[in-house]
Amino acid sequence: MKAATKDVTMAIPHLVQQFTKETHDTFTLELVPSAGNAQFSFKAGQFNMLYLYGVGEVPISISGDPDDESKIAHTVRSYGAVTSRMMALKKEDWIGIRGPFGNHWPIEKLSGHDILLGAGGIGVAPLRPVLYYILSHREKYGKVALIYGERTPGDLIYRRQIEKWRGRFDLEIYVTVDSAREGWRGDVGVVTTLIPKTRIDPLKTVAFLCGPEIMMYYTIQEISKEGVTDDRIYISMERNMKCGSGFCGHCQVGPKFVCKHGPVFLFKDVKHLFWKREM
Ligand SMILES: Cc1cc2nc3c(=O)[nH]c(=O)nc-3n(C[C@H](O)[C@H](O)[C@H](O)COP(=O)(O)OP(=O)(O)OC[C@H]3O[C@@H](n4cnc5c(N)ncnc54)[C@H](O)[C@@H]3O)c2cc1C
Ligand code: FES
Repeated sequence: MKAATKDVTMAIPHLVQQFTKETHDTFTLELVPSAGNAQFSFKAGQFNMLYLYGVGEVPISISGDPDDESKIAHTVRSYGAVTSRMMALKKEDWIGIRGPFGNHWPIEKLSGHDILLGAGGIGVAPLRPVLYYILSHREKYGKVALIYGERTPGDLIYRRQIEKWRGRFDLEIYVTVDSAREGWRGDVGVVTTLIPKTRIDPLKTVAFLCGPEIMMYYTIQEISKEGVTDDRIYISMERNMKCGSGFCGHCQVGPKFVCKHGPVFLFKDVKHLFWKREM
């Protein structure tokens, strides 16, 4: 019998199983499928279109553990019309999901490499599944480092989890903030100031970067100076999206559809398109 094809235009209802407030404007939703719908699987770096009924739909990366098919996690920063209304969601509310869409970080084929994860702001959300994956297969990788920059200490997401990960001997976690008040004992400065701490071996390192384009731009500049070549750098790009599945052209950048050919790109392949808005 032929397997039923998934209808990517239909939002499937999911229940909010848990709502966790991460910061004053950022929250994590753990969602479970409504009865009868199959378990959900995804790869680190993919995203879903989340539909807040009666309000609208937005692309949001999946931020949970790829090995945990029992729930789907999304970390959302309240930004505009839809995401700010999502902040009012609570346990047992309904939300629609289409997805997963897009390609993923190629972590599975990087066994033997050192991995550098560079996150700016909410860009840490699509990188968290990579960390979960690495920790489940830790023996496959060399040195693993996360550099993460936020605006202020109060904006740091996954704070408790990051503190826990920081205590491990097999992970290097470096966090910085743009500005801090008294009481913050960590680094202050842009994320690139953390790069020297990671002591990159350019011949072994592959970098995954996600954050504002300006942050990725300067991080690429700095790690290039350390000798990391463009074919060892992956970036996740964001563009306005509608269909999420390569039909509408909303997310087009040059010949690429970010929803379909991305959001994860090898920097070498999109260097000439980087910085360009929709066209
Ligand atoms: C692949 C992908 C993954 C994403 N993952 C996450 C995530 O994990 N967590 C998270 O909080 N956000 C994520 N985003 C961003 C999120 O989709 C936007 O913040 C959201 O769509 C804003 O919708 P809104 O209705 O709240 O705001 P709106 O009222 O629509 O937006 C306000 C302004 O921002 C502009 N805008 C909206 N979305 C984008 C965009 N993607 N790029 C550039 N300009 C935009 C609008 O044109 C408008 O001017 C992701 C985006 C993409 C494309
Ligand atoms: S969002 Fe429609 S083609 Fe990418």
